[in-house]
Amino acid sequence: MCGIVGYVGSNLAYPILIDGLKKLEYRGYDSAGVALHTGKALEVYKKEGKVAALEDYVYGKNIQATVGIGHTRWATHGVPSDRNAHPHYSNSGNIAMIHNGIIENYAQLKSELVQKGYTFASDTDSEVLLNFIEDIKINNDCSLEEAVRIALKRVVGAYVILLIDQDLPDTIIAARKGSPLVIGIGNNAHYLGSDASPMLAYTKEVVYINDYELAIVRPDELILKNLGNERITPFVQKLDIELAAIEKGGYDHFMLKEIFEQPQTIFDSLRGRLDAEHQHITLSGVDKIKEKLIHANRVIIVACGTSWHAGLLAEYVIEELCRINVEVEYASEFRYRNPIITDKDVIIAVSQSGETADTLVAIENAKKQGATIFGLVNVVGSSIARMSDAGAYTHAGPEIGVASTKAFTAQLAVLYLIALKVAYEKQTIDKTLFNKLLGDLAKVPQYVQDILEEQDAAIKEIANKYADARDFLYLGRGFNFPIALEGALKLKEISYIHAEGYPAAEMKHGPIALVDENLPVVFVATKDSYHEKIVSNIQEIKARKGQVIAVVSQGDNVVAGLADDVMVVPQIHEILAPILSVVPLQLLSYYIGINRGLDVDKPRNLAKSVTVE
Ligand code: AGP
Ligand code: GLU
Repeated sequence: MCGIVGYVGSNLAYPILIDGLKKLEYRGYDSAGVALHTGKALEVYKKEGKVAALEDYVYGKNIQATVGIGHTRWATHGVPSDRNAHPHYSNSGNIAMIHNGIIENYAQLKSELVQKGYTFASDTDSEVLLNFIEDIKINNDCSLEEAVRIALKRVVGAYVILLIDQDLPDTIIAARKGSPLVIGIGNNAHYLGSDASPMLAYTKEVVYINDYELAIVRPDELILKNLGNERITPFVQKLDIELAAIEKGGYDHFMLKEIFEQPQTIFDSLRGRLDAEHQHITLSGVDKIKEKLIHANRVIIVACGTSWHAGLLAEYVIEELCRINVEVEYASEFRYRNPIITDKDVIIAVSQSGETADTLVAIENAKKQGATIFGLVNVVGSSIARMSDAGAYTHAGPEIGVASTKAFTAQLAVLYLIALKVAYEKQTIDKTLFNKLLGDLAKVPQYVQDILEEQDAAIKEIANKYADARDFLYLGRGFNFPIALEGALKLKEISYIHAEGYPAAEMKHGPIALVDENLPVVFVATKDSYHEKIVSNIQEIKARKGQVIAVVSQGDNVVAGLADDVMVVPQIHEILAPILSVVPLQLLSYYIGINRGLDVDKPRNLAKSVTVE
C-alpha cells in the first residue's frame, strides 16, 4: 500500500512533495519521509506518524532542492518507527529509495548481502532491495538504471520504487510491478504519484506506467523502457478529475462529505445508462460480452471487503433476475485454492481502487484459465480496469475516506444495471417487473437525499446513545443480509467497536448467546417478503433484553413499535432496498467514531488501497 510521490523540475520540491503526501495519506500513515537532491548532496527527513509529524520535524529547515521523492508508509516489514520509515539510504549513502509493496524473497537477498558485509539500518524488505541494487551497480560498474533493471529480474514481489542518486542531480529512476505509478507531465517538470491526486493542481496530462516498465524522469524528459532496455512510447492520457473533487469542501471529514455526495454519485453512475422513460439500459461493457454472460456457466464475483459485500448482494440479485449460477469469492482465498474455472465462466471483479492486489492476481489467474473478466472499478485507468476484457466504471469520483461509502452505493447501482440488462437480454424478467425496477432505480438518488436530510440529526443522537457499547450485532435477511455485514464492517473500521454481521435467522444458532441488556442489535428490517420473519427475530432479541436499533421502511409501525430506536428509509422494491438501507448505517458508524474522538478518515492499521497480499 503506501503512497509515493516524486518531483523533478525547477520549483522547490519539498512543498510539492508534502502536499502530494497529504493527498496520498489515505493509503497509509505509519510514517512519512522525503529524500531531496540539493544539487550537491542527498538529504533525507523522515518521521514516524502522519505527514503532519514530518512537517513539524522539518519545520524551520531551509531545504533548497528541486528534485525529491516522498513516502507515506503502511508497514508490512518492521514496526512503524523512524528507522523503518522511508526513504532509505543505501550502504554507501549515495542512493536514496522509497518503495511501495513487498519484496517476497528479501530474506534470501538479505543473507547474501550480509555475507558480503552489508549492514541494515531498518527491518524493511525495501532497504534490502536498495542495497541489492547498489551491490549490482558497484559490481558491474554500471549506471543506476542498468542496476535497477538487473536487480528487478531477480526480485519476487510487488513494487513501485523511486530512486535518486548522488551522481544524478536531475533524475528520478522509477519502476513498477504490481503497485500503481502515475507520472504527470508539467512545464519543464514531472510529477510522480501512486495516483494522480498529487499532480492535479499542476497538470492534467498523465502517463500510467505498466508492470515491468522503468522510467527515467528528468525535468524536460520522460524516458520509458521495458526490462529488456527497449524504449517504449509513453501513452499520455488526459485526466478529467477536478482538484475540488479531492478536497473536503466544507465538511469536517472526507467520510462525511462522501456519504453526503451519494445522491450525486449514484446519479452519476446511472446517468447515460438508465433510461427509465424508454425502459432501456445502455452498458457497452455488458454488450461487449453479452453472449458470454447470457450463456455463462457461472458468474464468479471476486472482491475484498466492502466491494465483496456489493458482490454478495449482486449474487442474490443476479440469481433472482437472471437465473445464472453465481458464486462470490474473497479474492484472497480464490487466488490460492485452485478453483475450477472454464472458458464458460465470467468473472466480475469489483473494486473501488482497481489496485487491490488480491483481486488483481485472482483475475489474472482466472484469465489464464480462459474465463472472461468483467471489471467493475471506480478508478479510471487502474490495473484491474486495464486487465479486464470488458467492464463498467462506477462514477463515484475519488474516494479518499478509508472506509468506503459512496463507492459502495455506486457499485450497487451499476450491479443492479448489469443484472437488469442481462435479465432483459436473457428474457428471464417479465416486462412489468423490469419497468418497475427501472422506475424505482431512477428514484434512488432522490431517496438517498431524503434519508440524508431527514435522518441525519436523529442518527447522530442514536450514535451518541450507543457510542460506549463494547459490541454490536447487525442482522438482516435476504437482500438486506449483505447490508448487515457492511454495517458491521463500517462500525469496526471507524469506531474499533467489535461488531458482527449475521443473517437474522442464523443468530439463534449461536450469536444469540451474546444478547443481554448491554448489546445493541441493529436490524436491517425494511419491508420485504421476509418482513414477518424478521419481526419474529426482533421479538426474540427483545425477549432477551437486547436493545434494538432498526432500519425501517417509512410507515412501518410494527417494527418501529418494537425497536428502541429507528432510522427510517423510503419504501422501494425489496431488491433495491439495500442501496437505501446502507446509508443510515454509514452515518451511524461515522457519528459513533466521531463521538469516540477517532480519526474516521484514517482509521488505525488500515489503508485505502491494499496493494500487498
Ligand atoms: C472498506 O471500507 C474497506 N476499507 C475495505 O474493505 C475495501 O473495501 C477493500 O480493501 C477493497 O478495496 P477495493 O474496493 O479498492 O478493491
Ligand atoms: N514493505 C515496505 C515496508 O514495510 C513498504 C510498505 C509500503 O508499501 O508502505 O516498509
